[in-house]
Amino acid sequence: MNKMKLNIAVLPGDGIGPEVMEQAIKTLTATAAKFNFSIHFEEGLIGAAAIDQTGNPLPDETIQLCQNSDAVLLGAVGHPKFDNDPNAKVRPEQGLLKIRKTLGLFANIRPVMTYPILYGTSPLKEHLIKDVDFVVYRELTGGIYFGEKGRKNNDTVAYDNCNYSVEEIQRIAKLAFEAAQHRRKKVTLVDKANVLETSRLWRDTVKKFAASYPDITLDFMFVDNAAMKIIQNPSYFDVVLTENMFGDILTDEASVITGSIGMLPSASVGADKALFEPIHGSYPEGAGKNIANPFGTILSGAMMLESFELFEAANSIKNAVQAAMDDGKVTIDINPDNYFGTNQVGEYIVNKIKQ
Ligand code: IPM
Ligand code: MG
Repeated sequence: MNKMKLNIAVLPGDGIGPEVMEQAIKTLTATAAKFNFSIHFEEGLIGAAAIDQTGNPLPDETIQLCQNSDAVLLGAVGHPKFDNDPNAKVRPEQGLLKIRKTLGLFANIRPVMTYPILYGTSPLKEHLIKDVDFVVYRELTGGIYFGEKGRKNNDTVAYDNCNYSVEEIQRIAKLAFEAAQHRRKKVTLVDKANVLETSRLWRDTVKKFAASYPDITLDFMFVDNAAMKIIQNPSYFDVVLTENMFGDILTDEASVITGSIGMLPSASVGADKALFEPIHGSYPEGAGKNIANPFGTILSGAMMLESFELFEAANSIKNAVQAAMDDGKVTIDINPDNYFGTNQVGEYIVNKIKQ
């Protein structure tokens, strides 16, 4: 069989993005050598870094690079100098939203799991988090994020429209139900159907859709209730299916209960492209200090390998991360009393994989 060759677009982005990305690239390179496939990485600009150099948060070259690659690996996007300026016309986040829309990445998959070493740093009691293992399927290219928005009445009124079509709901429902078949066979649709018409369309559509998956149990939960349940009884969830903004909010909440937001990877998938990124932000205060947790990005690399069915290679990365946690080779967010630099943690992972 011919050796598999992957062309990966690398978008390090802002803040700690470049540092954590460096560790993921090292890791993937070591994995490729060991498992006999090859990876070619090519870098592109996105976010504040792209604005600084080109004035555009997503230059055309970056779009082209992503379209010509087999997959995209992204660090983080965002810079505080844009956050408190409501009049800024150009924002780093526009780059992220545009790459999602342009590549048609309609499903954002965010697994939420815990590691024993993190039980102490979780804001929840150990008995609540120890069996947590769920995955959120967040719709990513529709809803209020992408509806018509604007100002009217002399700038005294603003609006953001929320639209969803049956087709947009069905295509992500399909991924969520298929995932549930390989898990504990439960899908929870999170919505606000007591108030929102779009949520009622989600409920109708998903209810009908579920008829073709008799092996899956479907239940419904209002988003405010789901926000409570993630704190009170997070092990209740298996597959959570939800729209764009609810998914944005709930996945931040879900990530902190695991004890470190720096741990969690994600995949954003479309019909023929996928992008992999840690769920944490650009953490600008930590940039350049060699303190950022690289595991979320490294594990995003593992998810990327899984998408190419390189399961053995992906498992070697996951096992190396597990070993680092067991050995205490972790960054300051995980163990403030005894910690290692971003770089050292990356080295440890590379050496583990080579063994
Ligand atoms: C995320 C982020 C983005 C989002 C921002 C940076 C636009 O919070 O990926 O969750 O809201 O989708
Ligand atoms: Mg978010």
